[in-house]
Amino acid sequence: MKVLILGSGGREHALAWKLAQSPELSKLYIAPGNAGTSRLGENVPLGPGDFAGISSFCLEKNIDMLVVGPEAPLVDGIHDFFKKDPELKDIAVIGPSAKAARLEGSKDFAKAFMKKYNIPTAAYESFTKDRLEDGLEYLEKISPPYVLKADGLAAGKGVIILEELEAARNELKAMLQDAKFGEASARVLIEEFLSGIEVSVFVLTDGETYKILPEAKDYKRIGEGDTGLNTGGMGSISPVPFAGKDFMQKVEDRIIRPTIEGLKKEELEYKGFIFFGLIKVGEDPYVIEYNARMGDPEAESVIPRIKSDLLELFRGVDRKELHKYQLEFIDKHSAAVFLVSGGYPEAYEKGKKISGLEKTGGHIIFHAGTKMDEAGHVLTSGGRVIAACAMAASMKEALEEAYQLAELIDFEKKYYRRDLGQDLLKFNQ
Ligand code: AMP
Ligand code: GLY
Repeated sequence: MKVLILGSGGREHALAWKLAQSPELSKLYIAPGNAGTSRLGENVPLGPGDFAGISSFCLEKNIDMLVVGPEAPLVDGIHDFFKKDPELKDIAVIGPSAKAARLEGSKDFAKAFMKKYNIPTAAYESFTKDRLEDGLEYLEKISPPYVLKADGLAAGKGVIILEELEAARNELKAMLQDAKFGEASARVLIEEFLSGIEVSVFVLTDGETYKILPEAKDYKRIGEGDTGLNTGGMGSISPVPFAGKDFMQKVEDRIIRPTIEGLKKEELEYKGFIFFGLIKVGEDPYVIEYNARMGDPEAESVIPRIKSDLLELFRGVDRKELHKYQLEFIDKHSAAVFLVSGGYPEAYEKGKKISGLEKTGGHIIFHAGTKMDEAGHVLTSGGRVIAACAMAASMKEALEEAYQLAELIDFEKKYYRRDLGQDLLKFNQ
């Protein structure tokens, strides 16, 4: 099979790495990819939003399957773009239709869906500009912290949590009246604050049945001890020690199954990954958000734990025959530690030469913000640069190995968090 992966991050490198191991793969392309993916397949200089360019490329190269990494092309309808075109419709697309991707693209849509199907989530109300006064009144009635969310995609910045009523009132005005996040905050949700610990759960679905992947925890803040600004993700671990069997059973019964049933009832075409961003409150799971794709940096610790042939599973997804396939896992602990450019997530420099990669043979590293120059040197080209990954018998050992690997790779102003997993040592493994 000839496969084109869309995206350029660590998630896409992890997908490329896994698909490249399949005997069914004849040719792999990644658009636009990074220096890491260029070693597994051919990078194609096309952006994931360039539907016209992508479709001509698929026809020219006889692509059999399109695997969509990030959310934007899904929310913008790449699935539908392919399925509506007589020449493209037989190409398998791994990623949901635009209507189904609203689970990620519109928080209001996602909340209404959860309410309708009795899926546990925080109580909420949603407001548009013409109901600003109602929104301000609603804030008076609820207790802090105040959770304000822009309805649409806001590059991960659309959620604001505030302690003070006055600050929450000002934020609501900024979002609705001053269009702080543009169209994305034309509608704003005010949500009940849930106090707990977060975990990411993933399923692969063909719209009929599903397979649950190993869960993961990501580390979002730049600073140790979960301090400082939010990032695209500083690393992840899988499995998650506090997500035991009983808890995961509740997740399946209360969240996963009703979500798949709801998608079917609403006739929302879904072929691909669903990412459930959950919070464990006491012993119970609640949905914080849905995403229409794999997580990043979760993919970097979850995908290496998949034992089965992922390409075969994707084909099963496309043919709506997922039930015929097995999804088996490697019973080990996995860790991914992100090396980032100094200064990130604020201003940082690019173009730094990355050294030590030749010493990482036999280990798993996933590139994100990297590129190859004409002389074949690998340079930094983004904030999150490379994930150093490892699998071992325990979380502690997996982290130790990932940190040893992180030390082998170097570039000017390299930074990484050294405390991943520390918060989880209190849970029995
Ligand atoms: P989201 O973009 O919806 O995932 O929200 C970003 C982050 O805000 C989440 O990962 C949580 O840490 C936090 N968050 C969102 N909603 C709530 C809530 N209702 N209660 C507590 N924390 C929340
Ligand atoms: N790790 C969070 C995300 O992929 O959105």
